[in-house]
Amino acid sequence: MSFPLERPRRLRQTAALRSLVRETRLHPEQLVAPLFVTLGEGRRKPIGSMPGHAQLSVDLAVAEAQALTALGIRSFLLFGLPDQKDDEGSGAWDPAGPVPTALRALRAALPQSVLMADVCVDEYTAHGHCGVLHTRRDGTVEVDNDATVERLARIGVVYAQAGADIVAPSDMMDGRVGAVRRALDAAGHDETVVMAYAVKYASAFYGPFREAADCAPKFGDRAGYQMDPANTREALREVRLDVEEGADIVMVKPALAYLDVIRAVKDAVNIPVAAYNVSGEYAMLHAAAQNGWIDLHRAVRETLLSIRRAGADIIVTYHARDLAEAMA
Ligand code: PBG
Repeated sequence: MSFPLERPRRLRQTAALRSLVRETRLHPEQLVAPLFVTLGEGRRKPIGSMPGHAQLSVDLAVAEAQALTALGIRSFLLFGLPDQKDDEGSGAWDPAGPVPTALRALRAALPQSVLMADVCVDEYTAHGHCGVLHTRRDGTVEVDNDATVERLARIGVVYAQAGADIVAPSDMMDGRVGAVRRALDAAGHDETVVMAYAVKYASAFYGPFREAADCAPKFGDRAGYQMDPANTREALREVRLDVEEGADIVMVKPALAYLDVIRAVKDAVNIPVAAYNVSGEYAMLHAAAQNGWIDLHRAVRETLLSIRRAGADIIVTYHARDLAEAMA
């Protein structure tokens, strides 16, 4: 008898054997590609901190989605950049705004795709916070939960009407999933899916997004509504509430510093789990690759595999094109 008895390397001998026994697979259909849309035509403004991404006018966003579709990516998550902002973020529920306009154009151009719209006001408020502000008795200013929830419900209905298959509240107000669900149902949109940003941490990794969507808060931070990175039990509480309120899909965001949270959520629910591989996570890999320090395509694969292994069924990622190219 030869030694050792157990020889795991036996299954690693050829590429075909390795692929036969592979435990986790990546497919472009599991990915959601975010798009930043503006009104107008022929407008393309590159995002410096996110090489390969740009703010796109609706016509160019449609062209981008068509190119991604040709690579096997079928799902898109829209963020809007309005021409004007105000204190309430009223541009978010304007049916003529960038997101509803893009939804109608994408629905017509790509009827088979899954169209998602981020439901939040931060890209539309002059102050950059994810809600309507009010002053507390002690004089400090904070986001007013219930007044914000009312607006979010209105936004969800406008996006559903414009053709969104999925609306995704990303604000972290209490009770917003239930409010959005009830408003959708009351407006006859019981078919519209709600994907809740159930667990969203107050993260440094959103930096490049705030350039992309021009939504950095003008004062303070988001710690009064987004979660403390130290907390897992609280994450499960947020997930429980969103499931009870009718979420169809729950999301964890960011992904990489929270792989343990993705696993905990996956074990706690029986609905699909999404993870948001955020802008800072994208920027880090591209910055290192641009310096010649890592191989971009291998690093992207490995990163997305880690998120899938942790338990994500769906990954929202700016690397959608990178992965599709790596697999081609
Ligand atoms: C809020 C929202 C943010 C992101 C998605 N939705 C920004 C924030 O909370 O500051 C971040 C996404 C990313 O970093 O890729 N509407």
